[in-house]
Amino acid sequence: MEQDIQKVFKSFTRGGSIFKNKSMLQSKFIPASFPNREQEVTLLAQILAPSLRSELPSNTFIYGKPGTGKTTIAKFVCNQLVKAAKESAAPIECIYINTALKRTADTEYRLYSYIANLLGTPVPHTGLPTDEVYSRMVEAIDKTERVLIFVLDEIDFLIERNSKVLYTLTRINSELEKSRIVFVGITNDVGALNSVDPRIKSSLSEEELFFAPYNADQLKSILSERVKEAFHSRAISDDAITLCAAYAAKEHGDARRALDLLRVAGELAERAGKQRLLREHVELALEKLDRDRVITTIKTLPQHSKVLLFSILNLKESFISTGPLYEAYSSSATSNGLSPLTLRRVSDLLNELDTLGIISARIISKGRYGRTRVISAELPTNLRDKVLNILRNEVL
Ligand SMILES: Nc1ncnc2c1ncn2[C@@H]1O[C@H](COP(=O)(O)OP(=O)(O)O)[C@@H](O)[C@H]1O
Ligand SMILES: [Mg+2]
Repeated sequence: MEQDIQKVFKSFTRGGSIFKNKSMLQSKFIPASFPNREQEVTLLAQILAPSLRSELPSNTFIYGKPGTGKTTIAKFVCNQLVKAAKESAAPIECIYINTALKRTADTEYRLYSYIANLLGTPVPHTGLPTDEVYSRMVEAIDKTERVLIFVLDEIDFLIERNSKVLYTLTRINSELEKSRIVFVGITNDVGALNSVDPRIKSSLSEEELFFAPYNADQLKSILSERVKEAFHSRAISDDAITLCAAYAAKEHGDARRALDLLRVAGELAERAGKQRLLREHVELALEKLDRDRVITTIKTLPQHSKVLLFSILNLKESFISTGPLYEAYSSSATSNGLSPLTLRRVSDLLNELDTLGIISARIISKGRYGRTRVISAELPTNLRDKVLNILRNEVL
């Protein structure tokens, strides 16, 4: 045993035969070029460029499906702008805030204190009145003469949770004497701004950029570019790259998915002691990623849905009708100290599980006995037991 394990470690300390620089495949890595997004990169740079002459650029909104390069390109352009600003001694600063993160933007207090702290004015994480935190943030922003670019990523979370904050933020400029703020809002949700006050909407989206989903060819050129640095030469077959691109193109053209596939496939090939990443490793990676995704989805289900899913899997029948399922669910809920939901609500939960692809709920006709609904689990058999175990541990 000891020798075997030492062998495993040895093969890793020798540097691995597949990856040259694996960190280049992580989503926080910012590449030096963006195939198929040259126009968008240039446009964003042109929009923000007036800040170099101390003019206030237009507020900009970037839309697009997940994995279309919004976050990375916004960060890239900001980094380049700050670089240019240093060279010409223009006072510009960029601040990136992912408003989906609870610890940075859950409440007005957290967001204001987060911004103040980023700008070098220490504010405690709790304990002050919100007004006071707000003034300290404004003070921090207005400390010196400069243009501050606020990148508000996943801004739909901020809108959903607390659109008042957005209103307050967009009005700060009128309180500032020395500095000025410009906003770059980013969202996966095209309708994100529909629910906010039309004045805020138009103020935030003076310029709009739409990032279209990538097709398979575009994904392939993105991957090929990354592969040159991330993998040893000839450690990956062209076939394997094409397959990653094709799979990710099917999933709304998601470059993150394509890069994840490539990384996981490389890991699997390396673990199998191979010198070269082939198609088969991509197939295995796809299975693994799907598996991980199902498990994450299930872990984040509401409690009653978990009990319901547990009942479905526990009944071990291929097709279950609603009656017996509701009985099994009710007794399972009761024995877990939950009061069972009504049949109607359970029906809604079944629809949700169906939409998530975890179960299938179909209406079938029983001739003159009318129509009934049958439920079946849509999990691959090798996942069923694993999911049952998770649910048993989490619910029961
Ligand atoms: N045109 C591109 N060229 C190179 N890499 C890209 C391109 N578009 C996206 N990526 C990569 O895809 C991944 C996902 O991009 P990201 O900016 O996080 O997407 P979004 O914010 O739109 O969800 C990142 O690793 C990013 O580097
Ligand atoms: Mg993003």
